[in-house]
Amino acid sequence: MALLEVNNIHKKFGNTEVLKGISFSMEPGEALSIIGSSGSGKTTLLRCLNFLETPDKGRISVKGDLLLDADDASTQNESDIRHKRLHFGMVFQSFNLFPQYTALENIMLAPRLLAKENGKLKSEEEAIRIRAKELLDQMGLADREGNYPHQLSGGQCQRVAIARALALSPDILCFDEPTSALDPELTGEVLKVIKSLAEEKTTMIIVTHEMSFARDVADQAIFMDGGVIVEQGDPKEVIDNPKMERTKQFLTNYNNA
Ligand SMILES: Nc1ncnc2c1ncn2[C@@H]1O[C@H](COP(=O)(O)OP(=O)(O)OP(=O)(O)O)[C@@H](O)[C@H]1O
Ligand SMILES: [Mg+2]
Repeated sequence: MALLEVNNIHKKFGNTEVLKGISFSMEPGEALSIIGSSGSGKTTLLRCLNFLETPDKGRISVKGDLLLDADDASTQNESDIRHKRLHFGMVFQSFNLFPQYTALENIMLAPRLLAKENGKLKSEEEAIRIRAKELLDQMGLADREGNYPHQLSGGQCQRVAIARALALSPDILCFDEPTSALDPELTGEVLKVIKSLAEEKTTMIIVTHEMSFARDVADQAIFMDGGVIVEQGDPKEVIDNPKMERTKQFLTNYNNA
């Protein structure tokens, strides 16, 4: 059974149809890279998967459970959505760390809220702290737990954001251009962390403009344009040997940029 099945997702903003029927599936442990020009709908797709937008049409299933059917209002209950969202972790371009909390507190925040909701904060607090420290260590930031975001570099902030997304053990970790706010040196340290997550078989969707990274880290690649999937398959084929004229054009412009 596929881990994630995305079926015919459509999304309009006003009269503009931004997603025009997106379908794909992912196996456990797979990394999928999504490339495409600005405005092609990549962020909107990730936001739909994370229930930050509601698609107008389509279905999303994880491990065979139908999480969302745009035609079935009973799948769109607000309180259920908060739990369904836990299947996905999201890492944004701009990190979105809470400035008033330390690195460790940023990572512990969501697990603490969840434990509190379940009336288990007291019993789980220590395990949450231990897990957060492990994640910081895994990100190479063990010595930074007490630092506030303004005391960290962009690359370090992004690694804290990745640890924060992992803290709730999502089934699928989504990255939206995780390095585009970073200079090349800091980009490298973040890409290294994502690569090691891929080696550990973390299921991931990575929207990126780093073409060689998209090709080398992923098991599957999608090229999106104008709200549709134009080309999809082995990343080496899609990126080094594209079949569709539109993909070729995009990659040529890209390489010349
Ligand atoms: N909340 C919104 N309201 C209206 N239009 C929106 C909204 N969000 C996105 N759009 C429009 O949808 C289209 C797709 O946007 P989206 O951000 O998904 O593209 P993208 O592929 O992520 O682009 P980029 O590479 O620049 O990040 C754009 O034309 C954008 O202006
Ligand atoms: Mg975007």
